[in-house]
Amino acid sequence: MKQRILFVCLGNICRSPAAEAILLHKLEKLQLIDQFDVDSAGTGNWHVGKLADPRMRAAASNRGISIKSRGRQISLDDFNKFDLILTMDNNNLKLVLSLAKELGISFKAKIKPLLSYSTQTDLVEVPDPYYGGDKGFDQVLDLLEVAIDGLIQDIKVH
Ligand code: 4NP
Repeated sequence: MKQRILFVCLGNICRSPAAEAILLHKLEKLQLIDQFDVDSAGTGNWHVGKLADPRMRAAASNRGISIKSRGRQISLDDFNKFDLILTMDNNNLKLVLSLAKELGISFKAKIKPLLSYSTQTDLVEVPDPYYGGDKGFDQVLDLLEVAIDGLIQDIKVH
């Protein structure tokens, strides 16, 4: 059975679609893509149906990574569809946990901050790059790449 992984941020146009594209890119290289379903969503609904932020798409494209997904908002169905829900910051985590409460105790997904898989940072949050300069997008991609390497190590052994 496929492992299903959902990345969650606020708008679903910067951090979580980048995380989704990085994981897909790395799984493809490792020829593991068939074993996973990967998706992303936002806690907010402002960017539903939109492509990711052009600044994030450009920064990812410089690394050979193509971000193709369109914005969508997390829904209660996701908690039973996905095995793992990985949040970008404390606000996302809080919101996702409070949504999960609506389902009571029985749902499938484990909910964790993505950076808990990183071996190279003490940060617990992926900073929101939306209101910053171009450099912020590259910093986010650096953080995501290391954390996703850690995630892949973990999901390969479990
Ligand atoms: P994201 O970044 O949560 O990484 O997608 C943001 C995108 C849009 C907004 C905030 C954060 N916004 O306020 O529209």
